[in-house]
Amino acid sequence: MTMAISSRLDTARVLATVLLPTLAKGVIVRRPGVMALAEKLQSDGTAISTMRHLRDRYGPEPVRLRITGRSVAMLVDPTDVGRLLTQSPEPFALATKEKKAALNHFQPHGLLISEGADRERLRDLNERALRPEKFDVEPIVRDEADLLTRHVMSTGELTWDSFAQAWWRIARRIVLGDSARGDTQLTDDLKALRQNANWAFLHPQQRDLRERFERRLAEYNPELPDQVPHWLFAFDAAGIVTMRALAIGARGAHGILESARLWPTTPVILRESTIATRWHGTWLPENTEFVVFTPFFHRDPDRLPFADRYAPEIWDQARDPAIVPFSAGPGECPGRDLVLATAGAMLDALSEHLTFPKLTEPLPATLNHFALRLPATAVGTRVS
Ligand code: HEM
Repeated sequence: MTMAISSRLDTARVLATVLLPTLAKGVIVRRPGVMALAEKLQSDGTAISTMRHLRDRYGPEPVRLRITGRSVAMLVDPTDVGRLLTQSPEPFALATKEKKAALNHFQPHGLLISEGADRERLRDLNERALRPEKFDVEPIVRDEADLLTRHVMSTGELTWDSFAQAWWRIARRIVLGDSARGDTQLTDDLKALRQNANWAFLHPQQRDLRERFERRLAEYNPELPDQVPHWLFAFDAAGIVTMRALAIGARGAHGILESARLWPTTPVILRESTIATRWHGTWLPENTEFVVFTPFFHRDPDRLPFADRYAPEIWDQARDPAIVPFSAGPGECPGRDLVLATAGAMLDALSEHLTFPKLTEPLPATLNHFALRLPATAVGTRVS
């Protein structure tokens, strides 16, 4: 069987419209300027069109890109996504070369880039430590949501900046305890480290900054200090998903999942094969980097009648193997239930007193959360 290798032109198109815009927005921390441009261009819509073209022209097997020095394959078949994620970390390793380069900056001992027996041990520790019942999420969220509600009532709108301030207080209290509530320096330092991580191979590591961050973190005496940087930074994604959920009038866990389906905060899920593997009759060599571009699988209009609308009901039904905002299989996000509990509590607390207009459907392919300004009406107030 002939191998699905994209033409040079199609490789260039994938790089220009799918992979480079994803990198430019910031894989580790989003860049506001690029996000604004991406929204203006609706770059995710273009990326989805490119992926549809690849599938129609070369699919259903993974489509190899013509890149020298690295075997890279884009998945286009939803069943293949299910297989890739189920068969992790062997033969599809989570710790790919690119991830290691990016994450070495601030969590060299984190679960994401661990391997072998270390991974098994750390995975188990993370799963147990992140069970939502271990945290007293509700009262913390309620507290901070009340404060935010008062602020929004006085200004008349909810902006990303005011939301993010409240959200980071929540994140620090959940992860490190109430005494970390006001420690903006800690999360600012983490953000600076993450900005470096955006540049992966290119940026020199900043040892001083990392040491300051680690010293400060140690003062809170967390149970798993090596894992906490990832937990804290992952709360950023949870805040983005919650803010977008407010913009579409979402409620409950399924509403949060929908927000993450429509605008996935992990747009690219990567795996690296440890052996040669066979796909639709074609063999791909070991050390192939497999790319799952989730916006395509989540919003493919050829496959999903609900692609561009808010459809919480889909989460009651059998799971689509390629709708994976929290990934799936052994690498699935161990923070998922904690995120759903925290974000769900935030939606509940805010909507007790405030309502916001909903974005109109069809929903945009790219939504810049930094620029969201939601005019707020107090619940019970009639607009005349
Ligand atoms: C909306 C918020 C979040 C989303 C959408 C999300 C999504 C994801 C995804 C897609 C992965 C898997 C990547 C892969 O398969 O390669 C992942 C991994 C992970 N997430 Fe989350 N995450 C979120 C928030 C959080 C939070 C708040 C925490 C911790 C408090 C967390 C902890 C982790 C950890 C430890 C891993 C590594 C799992 C592993 O390598 O086995 N996540 N997350």
